Amino acid sequence: MRTQVAIIGAGPAGLLLGHILHRAGISFTILEQKSREYVLGRIRAGVLEQGSVDILRELGLDADLAERGLTHHGIHLQYEGQRHHLDFVDLVGRTVSIYGQQALVAHLLREHDRIGSDVRFEATDAVPHGLETGTPSVAAVHEGREVRIDCDFVVGADGYHGVCRPAIPGIRAWERSYPYAWLGILADVPPSTDDLIYALHPDGFAMHSMRSLEVSRLYLQVDPGESIDDWSDARIWEALQARLGVPGWMLQQGTITEKSITPMRSFVASTLEHGRLFLVGDAGHIVPPTGAKGLNSAIADVALLGRALVAQTRGDERPLRAYSGSALARQWKVQQFSQWMTEMLHVHRDVADASAREFRYRSQVGQLEYTVGSRHAQAALAEQYAGLPF
Ligand code: FAD
Ligand code: DHB
Repeated sequence: MRTQVAIIGAGPAGLLLGHILHRAGISFTILEQKSREYVLGRIRAGVLEQGSVDILRELGLDADLAERGLTHHGIHLQYEGQRHHLDFVDLVGRTVSIYGQQALVAHLLREHDRIGSDVRFEATDAVPHGLETGTPSVAAVHEGREVRIDCDFVVGADGYHGVCRPAIPGIRAWERSYPYAWLGILADVPPSTDDLIYALHPDGFAMHSMRSLEVSRLYLQVDPGESIDDWSDARIWEALQARLGVPGWMLQQGTITEKSITPMRSFVASTLEHGRLFLVGDAGHIVPPTGAKGLNSAIADVALLGRALVAQTRGDERPLRAYSGSALARQWKVQQFSQWMTEMLHVHRDVADASAREFRYRSQVGQLEYTVGSRHAQAALAEQYAGLPF
């Protein structure tokens, strides 16, 4: 079969790109290795930058977001038992929206169903071919049969573990892992806060987020080797109460409906382009989650690549050739911010020397004190958290 753009991966990046192409009358097929249920069941991120919201609105994909998303005007930064509010509207005139990646993926898929898109789940063994030629293709196995999709372009929206990045000869990457991980829970309990709380505590980082006015999302810094089996619900609530507690405030507890541990990593590929192949989202870069940038970076890439593919079909190749450089330049700024937020807010238990460990912790407190005490520093955080321009 033939299509103009073969997209590998039905995460938020692949699904959103499909909608951009559809609106421009460009045909596409999405190949996803997992089942629809699996894709719909993944929880992951929860914060949309204003720029991401604007893109969804421009594409007419914001109906569910407008109904269920929560507009937040800032965040709380907490350390040494004190909580400080940063007001993004006052600082930079921008807001963010709380809207789960799971809800976004469900909405994008419903809209693909409505417009009759060719989205194939459980399509395994995808391999891109002929990327240096004018006639690339993707081979895969779907419903027990080998399929070959001839196309003009292949888009790797297949996440960090996908097959597209390794298909680029000579590609390099810069990366680092962190000596901590996040234990995340979803709980059936109304949030105990208006805006999100990011807290540094001697026991480790903690965060209070939410998915709705009925469901809370909370995170704890844990060691990377820890097993979720060692974290009973009672132990999780006790740690959250200790790390998030401030005088006169109580964290409301409820039934935990999901819990898992995620490692933290920073990763940037040396290029997002090879001949007729382009990478978007986690296929090209990963951030630690502290700055809430993973999903937003995927959306930013897709907006840029979508525009470039549309321009290309109208005879202008330049945006497509500029895509990798532009997306990576923006991504390095996002990497810097995510690493900065992460290192400021996590306890570095890996530092062996007790004095050096304490030195590090106290400098982080100093950094937080400077951040909340300086309008310029607050504005720099707000500008990056609410999202750099595309
Ligand atoms: P993905 O969502 O990974 O989608 C890629 C898709 O490609 C998947 O559906 C996968 O099954 C499919 N695929 C892979 N290989 C193949 C193949 N060979 N053939 C066909 N299909 C393939 N970000 C935050 O900002 N905050 C968070 O709290 C947060 N939590 C996270 C928790 C976890 C466990 C993970 C893994 C990520 C988290 N992120 C978070 C990051 C954020 O979710 C990602 O940045 C976002 O999902 C990127 O979207 P994507 O579409 O590029 O990739
Ligand atoms: C959420 C995740 C993040 O990484 C973050 O920085 C803020 C919120 C969330 O899942 O709600």
